[in-house]
Amino acid sequence: MMETTKPKVWINNQIVPWKEAHVPILSHGLSRGSAIFEAFGIHEDPEGTAAFRMDMHLERLMQTAKLLGMQLKYSTKEIADAVATLASVNKSGRGLVKIMAYWGEEAIINLVLRSKLDVAIFTIPASEELSLDQAKPISVCFSRWRKLHPETVPVEAKACANYLNGYLIRKDANDRGFDIGVVVGTDGFVAEGSIESMFIVKDGILKTPCLGRILKSVTRNSILHLAKDEGIAVEETSLQKDDIYSADEIFTCHTGIKISPVKLFEDRELAAPGPVTARLSQIMDDVLTFKNKKYSHWFQKLCLAGI
Ligand SMILES: Cc1ncc(COP(=O)(O)O)c(C=O)c1O
Repeated sequence: MMETTKPKVWINNQIVPWKEAHVPILSHGLSRGSAIFEAFGIHEDPEGTAAFRMDMHLERLMQTAKLLGMQLKYSTKEIADAVATLASVNKSGRGLVKIMAYWGEEAIINLVLRSKLDVAIFTIPASEELSLDQAKPISVCFSRWRKLHPETVPVEAKACANYLNGYLIRKDANDRGFDIGVVVGTDGFVAEGSIESMFIVKDGILKTPCLGRILKSVTRNSILHLAKDEGIAVEETSLQKDDIYSADEIFTCHTGIKISPVKLFEDRELAAPGPVTARLSQIMDDVLTFKNKKYSHWFQKLCLAGI
């Protein structure tokens, strides 16, 4: 994106040019890695734009802050209103909203700050790099790293620092020629990918690891709803490595791409997409392109067309 065409950014109730959206290098958010965040999709229909499950994402942002003993400067309602304002200022179409909450103040030795978190909101247009809506079959391996243990940090918190684990998982997989890696927890059960949740299909049953040791993915929650409504049997259960090796279908999901069918797991080739994965992808597509109106309550309107 050219500097002049970059969208504006909402920071602490002010709308500023993209290049003015900075924090000091010694801010607590950067130097201690304490920032938290959320990301969700903006979708376009003939009437305008809408955010996909923004209510659930903002609830998770507040829950992240709570799990870490932090408080934001703005309420859920103020942030939701700011997203709508910014989307309209930027005339945002299909893309993502990314919300960062962080201590922007410098903290040289002070580890525990008592001030409320700054908030910055970005609208990021769909691009080749984001590859939204381009679900391609992917190759996946088990990572040599383990998932962070929930007694060391709250893994349900969408905290930037937790993504060091995600970075290592992804790097390890990429270095070995795979698209993504999946981690097993220290309890021996399969957890998730760096930025994605895991699903398998075995004998017609859709299975996914239980909450508690993974991020409360909004996409995972949406897929479970869609599957149940479609009459697909669903189990939230502990999965072992063997369950993955012997699955009939495997897919991953996250906000950006929704459902990615797995074509290769370690050395095993799979149909990608298999029949259940294809069915769920189609339903998800219909929801996100407003052909299926049953889930219209999952969208929060941002801007009306032409305004
Ligand atoms: C560790 C992890 N698991 C799962 C997900 C998927 O979550 P969501 O569907 O809310 O994007 C993400 C996405 O950010 C993630 O970082």
